[in-house]
Amino acid sequence: MKDKDIIRLSWDEFDEMRDPRPATNDFDAVVERAISRRGFLGGVLAFGSGAAVMGTGLLSSTTSAQAQAAAFRFTPIDIATDHDIHVPEGYQWKVLVRWGDPLFSEAEGAYSPETGVPVGMSDKVFGENTDGMETFVDGDHTVLAINSEYVNPEINLPAASEGVAKSAEEVTLLKHMQGVTVMEIADNGNGYEVVVDSPYNRRIHHETEMVADGPAAGSDWFKTDADPTGLALRGTMNNCGSGKTLWGTYLTCEENFNGFFGATGAHEEREDYARYGIGGESPYAYEKFDARFDISQEPNEPYRHGWVTEIDPLDAASTPVKHTALGRFKHENAEMVQAADGRVVVYMGDDERGEFIYRFVSNGVYEEGGSTEGLLSDGTLFVAKFNDDMTGEWLPLTPETTGMPVEEILVFSRMAGSKVGATTMDRPEWVAAHPGRSEVYCALTNNSKRGGDAMPVNAANPRETNEYGQIVRWRPEGEDHGADTFTWDLYVMAGNPKLHDDAYRGSENITEGNMFNSPDGMAFSSDGLLWIQTDGDDSNEGEFEGQGNNQMLLGNPDTGEIARFLTAPKGAEVTGLTWSPDRKVAFVGIQHPGGSWPDGEGKPRSAVIAVWREDGALIG
Ligand code: FEO
Ligand code: CA
Ligand code: CA
Repeated sequence: MKDKDIIRLSWDEFDEMRDPRPATNDFDAVVERAISRRGFLGGVLAFGSGAAVMGTGLLSSTTSAQAQAAAFRFTPIDIATDHDIHVPEGYQWKVLVRWGDPLFSEAEGAYSPETGVPVGMSDKVFGENTDGMETFVDGDHTVLAINSEYVNPEINLPAASEGVAKSAEEVTLLKHMQGVTVMEIADNGNGYEVVVDSPYNRRIHHETEMVADGPAAGSDWFKTDADPTGLALRGTMNNCGSGKTLWGTYLTCEENFNGFFGATGAHEEREDYARYGIGGESPYAYEKFDARFDISQEPNEPYRHGWVTEIDPLDAASTPVKHTALGRFKHENAEMVQAADGRVVVYMGDDERGEFIYRFVSNGVYEEGGSTEGLLSDGTLFVAKFNDDMTGEWLPLTPETTGMPVEEILVFSRMAGSKVGATTMDRPEWVAAHPGRSEVYCALTNNSKRGGDAMPVNAANPRETNEYGQIVRWRPEGEDHGADTFTWDLYVMAGNPKLHDDAYRGSENITEGNMFNSPDGMAFSSDGLLWIQTDGDDSNEGEFEGQGNNQMLLGNPDTGEIARFLTAPKGAEVTGLTWSPDRKVAFVGIQHPGGSWPDGEGKPRSAVIAVWREDGALIG
């Protein structure tokens, strides 16, 4: 496969090329059995009334008052297939910041519709392909931290390069256009604006100096020719979803980091390289111009990526910290909550077909205003096991349970998870915790490659492929996130009722009016409603007929209702959601748009948009 062909692959296709997975999926089979046993089309997943039918007690705390309070305050919109954004009547939107927009006045005018951003200004502008983001407040100042997950080389590089970096300078340009942007925004009464030259403004990218803590920091796995200490790291990569700590810092999650490594010569074939998809050639060509990304020269550099990295967005001079205690895998996001006894709990998904859902539990306790020392470096990592009877348990990853030294459990978390029998999942994307009760949701986006496998279709296993995805949720025992057992069910099984009346139609809360595929980004607003963003097939054809462009929907956890709130421009996914401090403006990420959105000419520009109600009421 040529370089140019590789860069056109989706991450899922890239994963499959690097590390083909078995065609069957345990979790999908569990889901199908659970649904069919309870009558898939018989109201089981119509939550509310379904809660009684299920008899699991899972939703027993639901009250009609909660449901009343959670009523949607907008008229759902239709699907769209155009190159524009659509929001409900009574709402406004605008672009807050686009790829190439200046963070500093010296970069004003740097972006050109024909050539993009010059390398000299590439770390002074907003990065490409926006993703997870969070809001921070410092006195009168509002600061956003926003991920730029990856670059599209064809858009960033000169046309003559044909989408493949041809020099060290071009590699530097690509490195700078990804990572994290920290920027101050100001309320101008019209969806906010970026404060150019704010002292908070900062770009963190693939070359930024950072450190690591926890058991794997400084271990032999972290040592390279360039850094024999294993403690002086550089770069945070493929920053996908996000999280916010209880103490007000930003968590950025390194997902498909493997895609940035390649080999210019012979290299050791390691078992973990295969499991993590490391090897061959990179679509970014970094390895051709920088030995750090060449596994034939620096075989350990990949172990220094794939972590959750903490950034203090209110201190532009702070050094980011990679927390090895939270494990190394393709981190989607990091949802932090607190156990009943005050310990810190972080829920995390590993987004690849057949990988796991994780939980980190600190040894120490967090108290507001107290020390945070050790809270993300000293604790236990767990993987989830979803039992067929809709119970589940968190399996600890320890030397005793895995037979692996602790630093290897963390560097090779996937192998540790396999050793204890974690449940393989349909690509875990964002995890979101309900703000009002101990209930956690995880988007399982899809598992499109099961088709044609040896697993026979039958009544108990009606879905040969899972092209639409589902959202699983669990409630910890005793409403305590520190508990080691939970009960689970499905909030929604996406599908297409226009085409199907079997398992592919989706759960009963899916209708022809609200259908979607591939749930991915998720966040709860303060009113206890679940915002669901999609990253799926927007062809509006075949299995996806009637589903239109990618979208953002609002779900009521109590009634199961789901309503479409926003549609993205064709080609884009919707990912990343945060709010202004007064919750009157929502900031929504629009990644990899097609056409020439939003400028109407030149290159497509990923962007964060602001959405607000015309009457000034709360949006979240
Ligand atoms: Fe970056 Fe799994 O999405
Ligand atoms: Ca995602
Ligand atoms: Ca996705």
